[in-house]
Amino acid sequence: MVNLIENPLRIGLQQDRIPAPQILTIFGASGDLTQRKLVPALYQMRRERKLPPELTIVGVARRDWSHEYFREHMREGVEQFGGGLGSQELWDDFAKGLFYCSGDIDKPESYQKLKAFLGELDEQRGTQGNRVFYLSVAPRFFAEAAQQLGTAGMLEDASKQRLVIEKPFGRDLASAQVLNQVVRQVCPEEQVYRIDHYLGKETVQNLLVFRFANAIFEPLWNRQFVDHVQITVAETVGLEGRAGYYETAGALRDMVQNHLMQLFCLVAMEAPNSLDANAIRNEKVKVIQATHLADLEDIRKSAIRGQYSPGWMRGKQVPGYRDEGGASPGSTTPTYAALKLFIDNWRWKGVPFYLRTGKRMPKKVTEIAIQFKEVPYIMFQSAAKQMNRNVLAMRIQPDEGIALRFEVKTPGSSLRTRSVEMDFRYDAAFGQPSTDAYSRLLVDCMLGDQTLFTRGDEVEESWRILTPLLQVWDAPAPAEVIPLYEAGSWGPVESELLLNQDGRNWRRL
Ligand code: BG6
Repeated sequence: MVNLIENPLRIGLQQDRIPAPQILTIFGASGDLTQRKLVPALYQMRRERKLPPELTIVGVARRDWSHEYFREHMREGVEQFGGGLGSQELWDDFAKGLFYCSGDIDKPESYQKLKAFLGELDEQRGTQGNRVFYLSVAPRFFAEAAQQLGTAGMLEDASKQRLVIEKPFGRDLASAQVLNQVVRQVCPEEQVYRIDHYLGKETVQNLLVFRFANAIFEPLWNRQFVDHVQITVAETVGLEGRAGYYETAGALRDMVQNHLMQLFCLVAMEAPNSLDANAIRNEKVKVIQATHLADLEDIRKSAIRGQYSPGWMRGKQVPGYRDEGGASPGSTTPTYAALKLFIDNWRWKGVPFYLRTGKRMPKKVTEIAIQFKEVPYIMFQSAAKQMNRNVLAMRIQPDEGIALRFEVKTPGSSLRTRSVEMDFRYDAAFGQPSTDAYSRLLVDCMLGDQTLFTRGDEVEESWRILTPLLQVWDAPAPAEVIPLYEAGSWGPVESELLLNQDGRNWRRL
């Protein structure tokens, strides 16, 4: 157990400020994200008085919904996926600020209608022209929506208007570059908020605090002491009815290019000079620029893909990916990906970073493990066959915390050792649930704080690393090309080999 003393360094110092009254317009508001995540997160923030009472939310989608229907649909979302309504009075007050405006993403008239409606709402709700436009539409519409907003003159005021873009931002390097160009024609980078909800997670932000608010870890954080790093994002869920999107994405686009690469950057980057958004983002860009797949000649030595087949999860039989509604029967879409990366810089040259993510794994767990090198000479006998190396494991979710594994003497007359852990647990230390990632990010965006959002060049660099892999994995191929793993297992055997070939193993989580 670790005692909680004091943690003076804070990221995003603006967090405790309340944003100015504003209108958040969500494009794609009839989709799951709005009902399950965005509106419950905003309501929670209202309950905690971190958003102004004038906050106004306008849902935009094709369906012909009324304001009343939208409010009701959102109420269900807050009850089912958020923390509940709390007080009916508060909900009624919040719901007064919910509106719906039907429209087509590709029709200029829809934007004119929306513009006029937002103007009316400014009068009615005192929102003073402050706007956030949130693109929660299918990724193929990002460019169209940004362009139309620009043409309609809805992003002209840099001090009052912001554009939020969901992931994945592009499908590969070339498409991300095109999308960035479109966005840049419409508004400057300072107005653009590319969202990656992993950056809103408390434990992800703590990576910076852990590394740079403590003097004892950083001296070890390099090729001299670190043998390798493992980053795991395992999920128990399967397709969850998202075949339409997932069939075009797969694990690389859905998880690796964004969430895993962000974790990677925060672990591997150099210390920024300040907490300024660009100071942090500059360091992230620098480290990704130095990163490449382990073996570009033979991609199989750098990366392994897999797809789940039928299996058992917690005593229940679950279908394989291809049997899930909407996935094609011969689909080669990867639901699992494991990668080996190297960074060519002074700190990390020669240290492999192994990244893995998969759906239908036995356990939901996101963890970053720094595996240290062996001691130079072993004098002791170990109770286990081999003496374990020191590991620093940062549990991002669930069961958030940090554990350090080290050797101690077992009681008795001989000098034998055993591994034990020093374990810091967030819940025991703070006794309160951490803020939901979307809540944090939405408030930051309204405050104009870009620290926890990805910059255009950062996204492009991360696509650059993955492009050689995408070219191979995207090529049309027979169904047999993709290794299968049973739902409820830790991925295809081939992924074990990726580490075994280096004399290492994936951690058992
Ligand atoms: C989303 C992906 O970005 O992240 C999903 O599209 C995935 O496929 C989800 O399930 C995981 O997020 P979390 O916060 O549950 O780890």
